[in-house]
Amino acid sequence: MDSREASILSKYQEMPRKLTKEFVDAIPWKDVPKYDIDEKFVPVLVYMRDVEAFTDIYYKDLTRTPTGKDPVIRQFMDQWQVEELQHANLLDRFLNEAGFPTSKKWLDEARAKIPTSYKIKGFIQPWITNMVGKKFSAVHMTWGAIQELSTLQGYKRLWETAKHPVLEHILRGIASEESIHIFFYRNIAKLKLEESGLSRRIARFLVEKFWSPVGQGTKPEEDTNYVIATLFSGDHGLEAVDTNVNHSIALLPGFETTKRVTNRIAEAIAAHAKGKAAA
Ligand SMILES: [Fe+2]
Ligand SMILES: [Fe+2]
Repeated sequence: MDSREASILSKYQEMPRKLTKEFVDAIPWKDVPKYDIDEKFVPVLVYMRDVEAFTDIYYKDLTRTPTGKDPVIRQFMDQWQVEELQHANLLDRFLNEAGFPTSKKWLDEARAKIPTSYKIKGFIQPWITNMVGKKFSAVHMTWGAIQELSTLQGYKRLWETAKHPVLEHILRGIASEESIHIFFYRNIAKLKLEESGLSRRIARFLVEKFWSPVGQGTKPEEDTNYVIATLFSGDHGLEAVDTNVNHSIALLPGFETTKRVTNRIAEAIAAHAKGKAAA
């Protein structure tokens, strides 16, 4: 086990978690209906809930690749998937408390709606993954860092724009765990990218060519575009993505000039606007 990676793992494991039993038990659920929430945010919450819960699918996909066999990454992933599922359950409870009842079988129903194209392709085509073997871990870790950074921005924009105090309290708790996930992914990505020029070239090439926003693939593209447009359209939305996501990725070795995340998010906002105009 690489000692620098092991030390990142122990730091990740030791970082205090916000969503403790005490935090969850103290959430003022009874206050949720006291505040309005604009219905346009309901599909956003459903999307976020489902994508958080689909973490077990990415987890299974990753275990079939060399990344999932890396002992440090594997230990991280075991804890990470439990944390993401808790985020999903909190969002589901919020929806119910806010007066938008969900089905008891929401997870099975959401899974059943995953497009066949995703089921065939999986999380980044496995053939590419296995072809480049361990070098691919740099891609997975960079990819994970982008997903976690953008998820965190999504939650932040949601609490800033929805202005629901209990939702904000919950989302801030979730966001603090997303920051811990970012810590792990970014630092491991940095080490893996530093290892070789080939890793950097493969990672950069695949991110520039294939990176899509969180959830796209398991969710139809129109849903992803709706969520992005709802959260990031207008003043400062794209700027928040550029500063807090794209810029952070551009600090990784080999990614200095990337604009992929900002450009792709701008495309999603434009595609949503175009879809609305055509409807
Ligand atoms: Fe999460
Ligand atoms: Fe996360």
